[in-house]
Amino acid sequence: EKITISVIKADIGGWPGHCKVHPDLIEKANELLKQAKEEGIILDFYATYCGDDLQLIMTHNHGVDSEKIHSLAWHIFKEATEIAKELGLYGAGQDLLKDAFSGNIRGMGPGVAEMEITLRKSEPIVTFHMDKTEPGAFNLPIFRMFGDPFNTAGLVIDPNMHMGFRFEVWDIKEHKKVILNSPEELYDILALIGAKSRYVIKRVYPKKGHKLPEDEPVAVISTEKLYEIAGEYVGKDDPVAIVRAQSGLPALGEVLEPFAFPHLVSGWMRGSHNGPIMPVPLKYATPSRFDGPPRVVALGWQINKDGKLIGPVDLFEDVAFEHARNKALEVADYLRRHGPFEPHRLPLEDMEYTTLPSVLEKLRDRFEPV
Ligand code: 13P
Ligand code: 13P
Ligand code: MG
Ligand code: MG
Ligand code: MG
Ligand code: MG
Repeated sequence: EKITISVIKADIGGWPGHCKVHPDLIEKANELLKQAKEEGIILDFYATYCGDDLQLIMTHNHGVDSEKIHSLAWHIFKEATEIAKELGLYGAGQDLLKDAFSGNIRGMGPGVAEMEITLRKSEPIVTFHMDKTEPGAFNLPIFRMFGDPFNTAGLVIDPNMHMGFRFEVWDIKEHKKVILNSPEELYDILALIGAKSRYVIKRVYPKKGHKLPEDEPVAVISTEKLYEIAGEYVGKDDPVAIVRAQSGLPALGEVLEPFAFPHLVSGWMRGSHNGPIMPVPLKYATPSRFDGPPRVVALGWQINKDGKLIGPVDLFEDVAFEHARNKALEVADYLRRHGPFEPHRLPLEDMEYTTLPSVLEKLRDRFEPV
């Protein structure tokens, strides 16, 4: 029997500024999710936060893109927005960019990662939740988990994964996708996904000959682009991902290992700066310094045969990620000293949706030939 795991998130108000989700919003989400579980709509759920983004984690039997599940999430975000307004939270309803729900939450503002899978005897998964960054922030770590033998020993020494994986890469400007084989097309994959503001890994699939079904993803990432919906800057996309682990897939520790390196991502202050992504436990998922630096939380789960979410284990609570956090802070100090200069500030083409165009417009007549 197949079950679906859905992670749907939205920023519906920050407390204060863009720092954190207020506990009353999580409480509201829990209340409505509990109701939905009692009504048999979902099998299990967990509501949490990462920074100012409210995170709904659900298991159910309705497949991906289910109207039932998406409208449930939309309803929860709407209801919680009312509380956010009541509390005067900052940017109440920030990510809800459309007025009326029309069957699918994609393209409406919230971020979505979903996978329908045949449960294994034991199903360990990790849900990743990022704040103050964009979907391309997952390119490097997801690539390393499933494509890099220096990260994932299993690619070399486990016969069940020695054949590699398939990467589904989206061109988010042209709205096109391509499926590439690793390791055969490793350099092509890297040529694309190194340009992380344009090409993003959407899913990873097993290959033919793998013991898991070829058409069921082993990793999925949210790729919503808020500015493409709103036409202007309305905050960063703050992506989420679901990754399955063990038994023919990267071991739990191979799934987490890429985050021992706090790589540079775009986002941070006003969504306009490069900064290191810091792996943190939930208690530190409260970006405050210059609205950052960007954060990633990893929650570990076992899904049982009834679709129950056994967890979470707050995986970056491990002291083993202390060096990554310290390195991130060191890099943050270094980058901050650049102030408004690139490459701390994003390059021009990524500043399109900020005030920069209006500055240029204002100065247009004062430019003269040289
Ligand atoms: P255990 O023997 O603890 O199950 O570990 C197996 C493994 O694959 C560790 O990466
Ligand atoms: P969020 O996308 O997390 O709301 O961040 C917006 C921002 O501009 C932070 O400075
Ligand atoms: Mg916000
Ligand atoms: Mg956010
Ligand atoms: Mg955001
Ligand atoms: Mg064991």
